[in-house]
Amino acid sequence: MAPAVALRSSTAWYDSPLYYDMVYEDYTKRETRFLHAAVKKYGKGFTKKWKILEPACGSGRLLESLAECGHTVHGFDLNRNQVAYAKKRLKSYGSSAKAWRDSLQDFRMPAAGEYDVVHCFVSTFKYILKEKDAVAALRGMSKALRSGGLCFIGLHLTDYSNNPEDYEKWVNRRPGVKVCSETWSAPARRKERKEAMRTCMTITEKGKTRVEETLWDFRTYSVAELKALLAKVPSLGLVACHDFHYDIKNKRRLNDAYSDIILVLKKQ
Ligand SMILES: C[S@@+](CC[C@H](N)C(=O)[O-])C[C@H]1O[C@@H](n2cnc3c(N)ncnc32)[C@H](O)[C@@H]1O
Repeated sequence: MAPAVALRSSTAWYDSPLYYDMVYEDYTKRETRFLHAAVKKYGKGFTKKWKILEPACGSGRLLESLAECGHTVHGFDLNRNQVAYAKKRLKSYGSSAKAWRDSLQDFRMPAAGEYDVVHCFVSTFKYILKEKDAVAALRGMSKALRSGGLCFIGLHLTDYSNNPEDYEKWVNRRPGVKVCSETWSAPARRKERKEAMRTCMTITEKGKTRVEETLWDFRTYSVAELKALLAKVPSLGLVACHDFHYDIKNKRRLNDAYSDIILVLKKQ
């Protein structure tokens, strides 16, 4: 299961924004399209150009994609390399696109109460390991939004009664580089509300192959635990749920039957 050679690191996954970006780039168009369809379906008072905040924006792939659509995009991330990479790719959009360094659990924002959209996809929210910090992050997202603005959170839910090890693999290429990313999630430790995650990126560049391994914990959420969290931030009302297929026509119920959920929340 594990690659033969591994370089242990706690942050390699995000210290290498190019490889991260390659792994996730197939999602970018789908997520961008989904956001537009969801705003059309669930939004109120939206003009053609929105003000968007992406907490934990990573390499800025979505900031760029949404800036390209004419929106004002702001994003922050804890990882310096990701922020530097995002800043570079946003340069040509001038003052309407900004990235800076900050943390999910207590972030400052340039325009509180002014954002039309806040989004946080691909289980990023699960990096917040304590309930009080998750509540603080959610409150921050709510505070960022104008009344009627929409908050999107995508995360993998845990069914503690059926919780085997999970494995996913992505392969992507750009000229001169091939990246194969494999991610394992261990069964959740229910008491701690944590699951051990492991990613191995096998990178082939200039005829050489190396492996970078990243280990981290995610906070787990059953449906009940997620509902309990949402109840602590009533200023964000649940409007609808979708899943990681990003299909606006396919709504999901927030129940135990499906695990990759996208919450659509509206600022009251
Ligand atoms: C899965 S990536 C998602 C990035 C981006 N939102 C996207 O969809 O491509 C997770 C990101 O969260 C960042 N991150 C993890 N914990 C964080 C925290 N406490 N505060 C801010 N950023 C954090 C990592 O540095 C990484 O860039």
